[in-house]
Amino acid sequence: MPSGRMAGRVQPTIPTSGVLLRPWRQSDRSAVLAGYAEPDIQRWHCRSMTDGEAREWIDSWDDRWHHETGAGWAIVDGSEVVGQINLRWFDFHEGRTEVSYWVLPAARGRRVASRALSALTSWSFTVLGLHRVELEHSTKNPASCRVAQRAGFAAEGTKRDEVRHTDGWHDMHLHARLDTDA
Ligand SMILES: CC(C)(COP(=O)(O)OP(=O)(O)OC[C@H]1O[C@@H](n2cnc3c(N)ncnc32)[C@H](O)[C@@H]1OP(=O)(O)O)[C@@H](O)C(=O)NCCC(=O)NCCS
Repeated sequence: MPSGRMAGRVQPTIPTSGVLLRPWRQSDRSAVLAGYAEPDIQRWHCRSMTDGEAREWIDSWDDRWHHETGAGWAIVDGSEVVGQINLRWFDFHEGRTEVSYWVLPAARGRRVASRALSALTSWSFTVLGLHRVELEHSTKNPASCRVAQRAGFAAEGTKRDEVRHTDGWHDMHLHARLDTDA
């Protein structure tokens, strides 16, 4: 049952320091394809994508927004898509969600992900009224751990053999930020 916090509303653009989060457009397809063709993104997000799948993936975010099952944004620098960030699911009863992101190689090294993460987390608290935003990354992905720390996501522990990648099982670090955190 939709909460009405998203259904019936237009998905907003969210400004951050320097970059913008905006809803996906079909014209972003080449950036999505470039992302899911990049080895590190493929490795940590465990998927590749055809042109048709990229089209469906972009369309799915509008559907998911209106059904309140997820929400995804392109991270845009000027007119260029440099990455993506999304809320993978919602539990409005408990006030929880989980975030996922990637940044294209040419845009890395400028803390794009932590800036996008901070802005989306604040928006989740103030606009969606959520209480807790979670984030998980493989213990073999230290860059994502730094992104989480810089955006104020406290480390809460290690989940053993939580996710299976092509090279076997990975332990996952769990991080979270609460609306009551400083
Ligand atoms: C993780 C990712 C989103 C970070 O992109 P970014 O915002 O450009 O991040 P930056 O390159 O600015 O680095 C962020 C921090 O990680 C650190 N870092 C980067 N690469 C690192 C590495 N290989 N080992 C350790 N630390 C690293 C940087 O020094 C920086 O730390 P600081 O903020 O303390 O200075 C990007 O590397 C990516 O898309 N990777 C592939 C997909 C992925 O890992 N997604 C997340 C899955 S959980």
